[in-house]
Amino acid sequence: MSFDTTAENKKRQHLDSFEEIWVFGYGSLIYKVDFPYLKKSPAKIQGWSRRFWQGSHDHRGTPENPGRVLTLVESSGEECAGMAYQVSQEVFEHLDHREKNGYLRFEIEIQKLRSNHMDADKVIGLVYIAKKNNAAYLGPLPEKEIAQHINMSAGPSGHNRDYVFCLANALRLLQVEDLHVFKVETHLKLLMQS
Ligand code: BEZ
Repeated sequence: MSFDTTAENKKRQHLDSFEEIWVFGYGSLIYKVDFPYLKKSPAKIQGWSRRFWQGSHDHRGTPENPGRVLTLVESSGEECAGMAYQVSQEVFEHLDHREKNGYLRFEIEIQKLRSNHMDADKVIGLVYIAKKNNAAYLGPLPEKEIAQHINMSAGPSGHNRDYVFCLANALRLLQVEDLHVFKVETHLKLLMQS
């Protein structure tokens, strides 16, 4: 599979058939909302976890020195909390380009959380996932080594460290605990002090 998934994403879903189109954000889509939306809601998906296992050649790294950014991995019994946005079809022109480095759109059940956190509105929406078979995939490493890699990386969208710090802060604002993200953040802070 080539790095650039823009053309493939255009063919993946019949967006016309969705009554409402929701996209689930679990990474930069939580804190970098550079697209119009109709509604947003804190949300979660079941059976997936965030991991810094995807290479970034175009945002937080370069083709010569890719950074590390998030993808989702299947994790039975786990859930991943983030933010869901109701958007128009046109938004995918922008998002497909922004997330073109190995990410494909998948249909997924999104649980929009109500303020009491007790019950949820379920909707089938879209999520960008970079699977193992994409050309930019880097794969697992212990969190300390992930932090060492991230600490050395930067690209057109800025330092790779800031991707982690912005995400960790956004998750805290949403009262979401994510051990993987927070461990990488802690290791990065230690590296910056040394
Ligand atoms: C997200 O924030 O949902 C996202 C993360 C990586 C790539 C595309 C989207």
